Amino acid sequence: MKDKIESICCIGAGYVGGPSMAVIAEKCPEIKVNVIDINEKRIERWNSNDLKELPIYEPGLSKVIEKCRNRNLFFSTSIRENIENADMIFISVNTPTKVKGLGAGKASDLKWVEACARQVAKYSKGHTIVVEKSTLPVRTAEVIKKILSAYQSDSTEMPNKPTFDVLSNPEFLAEGSAVYDLEFPDRVLIGGENKKAIMLLSQIYSKWISEDKILHTNIWSSELAKLTANAFLAQRISSINSIGAICEATGADVREVSRAIGSDKRIGSRFLDSGPGFGGSCFKKDVLNLVYLAEHFGLLEVANFWESVVHLNNWHKRRISNLVVQKLFGTVSGKNITILGFAFKANTNDTRESAAIQICSDLLEEGARLKIHDPKVKREQIEICLNAPTKELNKIDKNIHNNELMWIKEKNLYEAIRNSDAVIILTEWEEYSDINWIKASKIMRKPSWIFDSRSIVNPQKVNEANLNFWRIGDGS
Ligand code: UDX
Ligand code: ADP
Repeated sequence: MKDKIESICCIGAGYVGGPSMAVIAEKCPEIKVNVIDINEKRIERWNSNDLKELPIYEPGLSKVIEKCRNRNLFFSTSIRENIENADMIFISVNTPTKVKGLGAGKASDLKWVEACARQVAKYSKGHTIVVEKSTLPVRTAEVIKKILSAYQSDSTEMPNKPTFDVLSNPEFLAEGSAVYDLEFPDRVLIGGENKKAIMLLSQIYSKWISEDKILHTNIWSSELAKLTANAFLAQRISSINSIGAICEATGADVREVSRAIGSDKRIGSRFLDSGPGFGGSCFKKDVLNLVYLAEHFGLLEVANFWESVVHLNNWHKRRISNLVVQKLFGTVSGKNITILGFAFKANTNDTRESAAIQICSDLLEEGARLKIHDPKVKREQIEICLNAPTKELNKIDKNIHNNELMWIKEKNLYEAIRNSDAVIILTEWEEYSDINWIKASKIMRKPSWIFDSRSIVNPQKVNEANLNFWRIGDGS
């Protein structure tokens, strides 16, 4: 094993791999960082001269890319060459929930991780430290180790037999603040057995993170800590959303309840914002991984406890679409509804598990005509999420009775609002907190409704504009 890491390869140029490697390259100019992916288009976009074309939108990311790209940060599809030359390999590929077979709907599909491990085993030379970075179920490192050692025993005749160490180094970055989270993490977690391998990875992070924040654990604790952190955060959101429903029924205000409980240091103030339901690629997947793990070990009460976090979230999203229908006199058929925000949270173009998918699908199912606005999500992406091609508005008008799903993506905010019966805010983009409601009221169909699932609208301004107003968890 070398005494210092000179070359890193990251397999997977996605939401985790891209920003994480960009920050490592920025902080460690002496290390060559190669990010590889099988998706040629994605790599082309990472290499695009126009920084607006980067495949991922993250505040501050384009600056880091501009500084490091082609200096010590490279994006390519050359898998073999980059694996061969790497001292350390990060596995940062997608691990979606299995859709069929054993554990379907709960367990993570490890086929991409497995494929990576095989590629690493095949092409590595000398000693390589393999770091699992994707969110993975507990004991995935064992799978990686087994694949690597199977190839090792196959190559006993080779003079330069490759050797490996496997570490778990889960990522805690949140989308929308990824660069900040990577630069100023609360902690870095490194799980593993070989002290020197752990030390080499710690050395990289210690370039910009104080050593007391770099925690060392055994590999399983590290994997389980990642799942647990996400499960706890998701649980807080389901908890506060459940309280929001009680607030609406009883006359309390969930924002006041959040503030009151959040000022108790034992509870803490963050992750207590009631919203349209949690989305993102991690929360649901990680909670379900925990459920699967608990079921596997016969811990059914534990499994049920965590599964209820996901059940509540699903119920909550439906509750919102149902109440929109109820407020609009029990039917939205043929009505125009403006959806503000399709990303699962602000400051990202990611739509994975976004609450908007369920809520929009429900409203389309009820016959509503949707005008969807989002400053960063592309029309093609919405089309994939809703599994329904967009239609021109004039065609919508003609086809109003033919039960086709109907929506359009609208670039201009006020055009999106024009002629609508209701506006539903689903993502907390800053520009939605500055909407001129008097102007909006003049161009909406009467009686007009504003639904604020993110508590970003000033209720007084909406009232002054004579609009009907609902906001999450507000029973007052
Ligand atoms: C999460 C974890 O925060 C991060 O540590 C992990 O590495 C990946 O998963 P992410 O999914 O990117 O990050 O975003 P996060 O900020 O956690 O938000 C997840 C969802 O919860 C979003 O839909 C967000 O809108 C929602 N949320 C968050 C709330 O509804 N209320 C809150 O108070 C906080
Ligand atoms: P995450 O949010 O975990 O980063 P993404 O889906 O954004 O997930 O990114 C994962 C990336 O990993 C994708 O761009 C995908 O093409 C890439 N990938 C998956 N399997 C492999 C593989 N065997 N080799 C290289 N890249 C891979």
